[in-house]
Amino acid sequence: MSALAMQSDIVAGSQTADIETSRPFFSVRDVHAYYGESYIVQGVSLDIRKGEILALLGRNGAGKTSTLRTIARTDDPQLRQGEIWLDGKPIHAMKSYEAARAGIQLVPEDRRIIQGLTVEENLALAKVAPGNGWSLEQIYESFPRLAERRTQEGVTLSGGEQQMLAIARALARDLKLLLLDEPYEGLAPVIVHEIERILHSIKPLGITTVIVEQNAVAALKLADRAVILDTGEVVFAGTAKEVLDNSELRHEYLAI
Ligand SMILES: Nc1ncnc2c1ncn2[C@@H]1O[C@H](COP(=O)(O)OP(=O)(O)OP(=O)(O)O)[C@@H](O)[C@H]1O
Ligand SMILES: [Mg+2]
Repeated sequence: MSALAMQSDIVAGSQTADIETSRPFFSVRDVHAYYGESYIVQGVSLDIRKGEILALLGRNGAGKTSTLRTIARTDDPQLRQGEIWLDGKPIHAMKSYEAARAGIQLVPEDRRIIQGLTVEENLALAKVAPGNGWSLEQIYESFPRLAERRTQEGVTLSGGEQQMLAIARALARDLKLLLLDEPYEGLAPVIVHEIERILHSIKPLGITTVIVEQNAVAALKLADRAVILDTGEVVFAGTAKEVLDNSELRHEYLAI
């Protein structure tokens, strides 16, 4: 190989490496989504690096849940324009079950614990999905409360325990992007801290999280970055610290 060809190879190689490291792990590009004819998600874009936690905030009705549902590719709202990429895969071209297989797990506000099943059965059912999710042993090690209650019916757990079960169930699947809708709602501070500890501990594993929370201060303290929505549009994107330090922004969009 000539020196010139070698040099151009090196240049091309280094360019590729730069693109690799600068490309976000998860990317939402100008996404528009509708409930019937109601235009709700109005051109949302956001980027997250692998292992980051993003707080998705905004007033009631700002479009937070709708954005999470759009990302998870639920039928409603309907995605009509824009792209969603996770780890190089085109999520916008997928149905919800395919997005789940690609590693996206949505934990909705009501947590969807399956009635009539024990804690362990709820987890075992999640493990039926293909892929390399956490084993029951790994889950019980990180969630000792669930280990203690493994034979208890899932729906009889406390709110906090049900939230832990919902997160554990996502970890039992092949999880790359965890979408949490109001995970702290109705929970005592001690349980919130336990969930924060778990969310923090999965970051080094490369699991990326989007957290929607009314408790914006708690979400911002946990998160690396923040996006604020208002009437279905992004009005702020930056670091979580920038929001914590900006009282005007907090006042205007978060009422805190
Ligand atoms: N199934 C639906 N059909 C029609 N409109 C809907 C539907 N679900 C939500 N909306 C509307 O979409 C807008 C955004 O709702 P969304 O639930 O995404 O907001 P949010 O930011 O999650 O609010 P909250 O903080 O109250 O949970 C609201 O105006 C809401 O009324
Ligand atoms: Mg909501």
